Amino acid sequence: MSHRPRPRVFVSRRIPDEGLRDVLEACEATVWPEELPPSRDALLSAVEGCDGILALLTDRVDAELLDRAGPQLKVVSNFAVGFDNIDIPECTRRGLPVGNTPGVLTETTADLAFALLMAAARRVAEGDRYVRAGRWKTWGPLLLLGPDVHGATLGIVGFGRIGQAMARRARGFGMTILYHDVSELPLEVSEPVGATAVGLDELFERSDFVSLHTTLTAETRHLVNAARLRTMKPTAILVNTSRGPVVDQVALYEALRDRVIAGAALDVTDPEPMLPDDPLLTLDGCLVVPHIASASRATRAKMAEMAAANLLAGVRGERLPTPVNPEVYGAAGP
Ligand code: DGY
Repeated sequence: MSHRPRPRVFVSRRIPDEGLRDVLEACEATVWPEELPPSRDALLSAVEGCDGILALLTDRVDAELLDRAGPQLKVVSNFAVGFDNIDIPECTRRGLPVGNTPGVLTETTADLAFALLMAAARRVAEGDRYVRAGRWKTWGPLLLLGPDVHGATLGIVGFGRIGQAMARRARGFGMTILYHDVSELPLEVSEPVGATAVGLDELFERSDFVSLHTTLTAETRHLVNAARLRTMKPTAILVNTSRGPVVDQVALYEALRDRVIAGAALDVTDPEPMLPDDPLLTLDGCLVVPHIASASRATRAKMAEMAAANLLAGVRGERLPTPVNPEVYGAAGP
């Protein structure tokens, strides 16, 4: 009896067992064993001859990598909803399907975005540092004052799944919700959360909090720059859980230092990781966490299941459950 060889795949970091075990069962898998991502050279040699790659947002998947992988490569499955680490047009040109993990991380990511908004407003991290430094001597009428969250105006940039989930949270706090999106959204989407579509300029001018939920594209790179920051209220707080390069970080540092705006809370930075000597970390008004918006146990397990499902469908020549570039299938595809 002849056995078909099991597909060869590379998994670029250990992912939760909920997805990993399916991959290990079905494939000849190499799993990068270390906590840090493979170096570029290690990544390039690991993908050679693979039928499938399960990539993370820390892996750049471009023409060079696809060439090194070879023509037998059938799928790239990204363990993320975002896919700015992958050259999608290049994959599409080669007829290579790319998968991502949409939907499962929406609520978890919005939870963190709202937590950052609250924490920045109410100076939670600063308060914690204050106590730990032994500076808490008494209750103070003027100690660590911040703005109210309830009743304030929230501007949401990018009103996709996560932006809308953020709006649902804001509604519970009685906030006025403004949003801006490149595509016109039907009233069924914006009305239930009481969100009003406005132009980008108006959103930045009117909002007490601006939360970024846009994808990173050539158009959104440095969307928040020095000029944009100058249009914000001096009391405003910027929250970013999208991608670091959406914000010009040098401009943000200067704006916070010069009190052009009051605060920022970042889950994503440019570069990642943020270096420990980054000037932003010298400012009390800037709160930074290490890209953990989707980091709940349940959500990461679901992301692993989805990424594995995309990988396995791809190596079997089946249609990916959640392809980023469905156009590779054409009209008659699987
Ligand atoms: C994503 O999925 O794009 C997040 O940034 C990480 O979960």
